[in-house]
Formats: sequence, structure tokens, C-alpha cells
Amino acid sequence: MASEDAAHPFDDPTADPAEIARIAAEQIAERTGVENHDIALTLGSGWGKAADLIGETVAVVPATDILGFRSPAVPGHVGTLRSVRLPNGKHALVLGARTHFYEDHGVRSVVHGVRAAAASGAKVMILTNGAGGIKQTWSPGTPVLISDHINLTAASPLEGATFVDLTDLYSKRLRDLARDVDPSLDEGVYVQFRGPHYETPAEVQFAKTIGGHIVGMSTALEAIAARQAGMEVLGMSLITNLAAGISPQPLSHEEVIEAGRSAEPVISDLLARIVERV
Ligand code: HPA
Repeated sequence: MASEDAAHPFDDPTADPAEIARIAAEQIAERTGVENHDIALTLGSGWGKAADLIGETVAVVPATDILGFRSPAVPGHVGTLRSVRLPNGKHALVLGARTHFYEDHGVRSVVHGVRAAAASGAKVMILTNGAGGIKQTWSPGTPVLISDHINLTAASPLEGATFVDLTDLYSKRLRDLARDVDPSLDEGVYVQFRGPHYETPAEVQFAKTIGGHIVGMSTALEAIAARQAGMEVLGMSLITNLAAGISPQPLSHEEVIEAGRSAEPVISDLLARIVERV
């Protein structure tokens, strides 16, 4: 883990992220034996088992063997890239090594997995996470669709005068498809905070006032990069806890992980059924 950061390509500000993603995609193709992937998934807390359920694993590669990837800092996250052959013959690339914005490696590192997936041919990016719920009716363990986001990180993966339309960023087609699979799926606006501290109750009220329903520390920046790369995005949050102040109970990371663990079989099965139809 220590050595991978010694000379990381994104430590060089003159490095071209698109070129690093292109090389990463070449390495992924070489190591998995799969020339082109059709779909990519980032599996956040609670969603990991989906990798086993969506199809037949063709190859598992340590993420740090691929240019630009870092080992994940969060317990409960897996540092692998996995190539899975779906029952419909499509190939999915499962990214188990998310770099969070709060790790301070820069936005280029945060979105590298998405860019490498796009360079690998993926046209659909499925982004999942564990998050706090603002709607009181969402008990821990509830999966919800992301309908839109509010990015409170004050950062963007886009560099220079790059203007990208984010209307319908979270594809209506894919949300409808997910609801066909499970009509009980609710949806909401995801608010990305920087973290790694959880929000204060006042910040959660702020998120609610500006139109948010879900609070978390990932996904929005990745979704922007996916859209820049021309991918269709499906976002799903597992509500691991009611957001701070919505429930009188204080938050603990262990409880968040535990909520993810107990919901994992159900939501992973749900995600597998959705992926089959994408
Ligand atoms: N806030 C931010 N991120 C989270 C939360 C939360 O309440 N729960 C899980 N990830």
C-alpha cells in the first residue's frame, strides 16, 4: 500500500488524465482478457455481494496493478477490479476500489475508475453507495434511486473551460428500468458533502432545505465524470442510517457498515436483477 503512492501518476500535475485512463483500459483488457466491457459498476458499502450475483467472474485484478488506481482507505471496500460475464453475454467491469474526495488525492484520482471504465468501452456506469437518509420513512437498509445530485464539494472533475450538460444526469431510462424490477424503489436527490466527518444536524437541515434527500461522500463527482465520458448513469444509495439529527441517535461508522452488511444480500440481488436488463 505504501509503495503504490510513491510515484503516483496523478502526483504529476502535467499528466493527462485521459491518457492515463486509456493506458489503464489497455492494462485492464490485457489482465482480464476482455477487450471491451459494456457496463461498469462501482460497488459502495453494502453493495459488494452484487459482484458475485451478476454473472460469472472471468478475472480479478488487484486495482493497484492498474495504472492510476489506489488502494481503498475504507474498511469494507475491496481493492479489486473484476471482470464479470453476464448471463446475456455482456461484460461488466466491477470497480471495488473507490477513492473518496476526502482522501485528498485530488479529483483526478476520485474519477479515474470511471474514466478507465469508459475507456474500456463501458457505456453504462452504475454508481452505488451507502448514505444517510433525510426522509424519515427510509429505514436503514432501504435502497433508493438517485434522481439528481447537489455537489457541495466545491470541486469538479472537469478541467478548464469544459462545459458539460448535467440535465438527466441520472438516466430516466435506467431509473424506470430499475423500478420495473422493483416498483417499491423510491428516489431522491443525493447531496455530496466532502466528509469524512458526518454532517451536523444543521447541515442536514440545509441539505433538506435546498432539495436534498440523501447525504453522502461520493458519487456526484464520479457521475459528472461519467457524463463527460458520454456514459449513461444509474445511481443507487443504500440508506445505512437516518442522517444526523433526523434520528435522535448519534451516527457511528460501525453501525453504517453493519447496516450495509445486513442489507447486502437483498440489495445485491436487486442490483443483479437490474444489471441483467441494462
Ligand atoms: N452522511 C454521509 N455519508 C454517509 C452517511 C451519512 O449519514 N451514512 C453513510 N455514509
